Amino acid sequence: MFKRISALVVVGLAAMSVAACGGGGSTTAGTSGGGDSTITMGFSQVGAESGWRTANTKSVQDAAKKAGIELKFSDAQQKQENQIKAIRSYIQQKVDIIAFSPVVESGWDTVLKEAQNAKIPVILTDRAVDSKDTSLYKTFLGSDFVEEGKKAGQWLVEEYKDSTDPVNIVELQGTTGSAPANDRKAGFAEVIAAESKFKIVASQTGDFTRAKGKEVMEAFLKAQPDIDVLYAHNDDMGLGAIEAIEGAGKVPGKDIKIITVDAVKDGMQALADGKINYIVECSPLLGPQLMDLAKKVVKGEQVPPRVVTEETTFTQEQAKQVLSTRQY
Ligand code: AHR
Repeated sequence: MFKRISALVVVGLAAMSVAACGGGGSTTAGTSGGGDSTITMGFSQVGAESGWRTANTKSVQDAAKKAGIELKFSDAQQKQENQIKAIRSYIQQKVDIIAFSPVVESGWDTVLKEAQNAKIPVILTDRAVDSKDTSLYKTFLGSDFVEEGKKAGQWLVEEYKDSTDPVNIVELQGTTGSAPANDRKAGFAEVIAAESKFKIVASQTGDFTRAKGKEVMEAFLKAQPDIDVLYAHNDDMGLGAIEAIEGAGKVPGKDIKIITVDAVKDGMQALADGKINYIVECSPLLGPQLMDLAKKVVKGEQVPPRVVTEETTFTQEQAKQVLSTRQY
């Protein structure tokens, strides 16, 4: 187990051999490497709620293996209490570094303070926390979710630029309290606010899952007689909603225009098929950058406080062109 040089100086070799005993854990997976120089990372994942998340988990596990980092992985099943438990267990196990994707933004200060007191650095990946004390984590690697929401809004403004009629929008939000739900909502709302014809007539969480997306869209269709546009905070909810729209005898992509976020393969297929109109990309392939940052942090090197993922957008034509080579 690799310990930071400063820790070596202060604590000495005896303490290091105690730290080297840390291991086990109920949800360990994807270990590799071994020996005294191996970095051990405790990683608390949000869950397995979407195609994006599955691709993200694979990216993290594959990258750890490639980088020779021993990964202790746990799936929090979309529950903050499970993530807090996992982080405390990583602290007890004296891992070299903790990385996690916080299910919601609030309520992390206490456990992050515990990691800081134990001198275990933390990297936020994919989602942010709203802690005022930014010394509680070394860096935050992930997308700019506000920007993603803005891109969705900009497409809509352009799509309806020649129309003066009211545009009724329903919104499927991500997990309540999560950074992508808060930020994608805010970015979208900011852009469409410029024109009064755009009206969000219903907005509810679909928890980033296909099943919930379908269920909530069914309710929207019953309550709202005239829906022009669906804005779904991820592909999975959009795909669930497509089933509900077809079930109601309407044509997705035509009777109701659909904008989603992520660009996973199933979403891109629906875009190429004309059932989705526009997708804003959110890349789940964070593993390699995360492992690079982790190595630097463990060595005590400076890293930027924020690393923003590069992303694009896709129209139906663009989806047809890239679909066959889409990795996830
Ligand atoms: O935090 C990223 C979001 O979480 C993805 O857009 C969504 O699909 C996932 O569940």
